[in-house]
Amino acid sequence: MGTPRAADEADVAGGGGALPRHVAIIMDGNGRWAKAHGMPRFEGHRRGVEAVRRTVTAAREIGLEAITLYSFSSENWSRPMAEISELMGLLKRFIRSDLRDLHANNVRVRIIGEGHPGDSEVQALLDEAQAVTQANTGLCLTVAFNYGARNEIARAARSLAVKVAAGTLRPEDITADALAGELDTAGLPPLDLVIRTSGEQRLSNFLLWQAAYAELVFLPVLWPDFDRGWLERALGEFTRRERRFGGIEPRGY
Ligand code: IPE
Ligand code: IPE
Ligand code: MG
Repeated sequence: MGTPRAADEADVAGGGGALPRHVAIIMDGNGRWAKAHGMPRFEGHRRGVEAVRRTVTAAREIGLEAITLYSFSSENWSRPMAEISELMGLLKRFIRSDLRDLHANNVRVRIIGEGHPGDSEVQALLDEAQAVTQANTGLCLTVAFNYGARNEIARAARSLAVKVAAGTLRPEDITADALAGELDTAGLPPLDLVIRTSGEQRLSNFLLWQAAYAELVFLPVLWPDFDRGWLERALGEFTRRERRFGGIEPRGY
């Protein structure tokens, strides 16, 4: 994706710094959007899917390497059953209608989280989206589905423990890198930027490990209204931030 990135970077960035390689988005505010428009919550979620389409297209055109979208958290099971089935219905419809396009645009789909072992139809579609696109080399679109960061870290710790118990790993080899290698995100570029829409300023159990040195940008827009302009605004903010990673400012002394 070299050419579009080179062409667009100057237009999008504006702040002098490089664009992020990996952007994660907490897509929040569908319910409030619906309420503000006098519509049922479902309509907010439906419009939210359109915002997902716009965002993936924009990310591709801008030339981002990876975007990760929080689509359903492990805590979202506490919502009313009717809303959960609507969300599952939208996910199925989205994969059925958009997988062909994503594939044609060289997008590689990856799912993180625990999937949906209890719903074979949803699980089969998630598996299909990954399988069909796995050799693609363009934008990596990661969908966090039935995802919770604490659970992800616990599962990673468990798989290291299994190796220690089997005698294939020594306890002293359990390093931060070793644990990161067991996370669902292993192999993705480091997380540079987390965007959350709707004005809430919290991570809600999203990518807690990976966000250690990510920049956080909170936007007032409700997710169904998110578009390329809002993405560029967040990217612009990112390029104006000074990342230190615990050191001193690059030009300072
Ligand atoms: C985000 O919108 C979508 C999901 C969590 C699935 P919400 O449904 O959380 O919308 P608000 O926060 O109630 O406005
Ligand atoms: C986070 O939003 C999860 C997703 C966007 C999928 P929530 O709306 O569930 O988060 P809280 O409950 O406000 O923290
Ligand atoms: Mg919410």
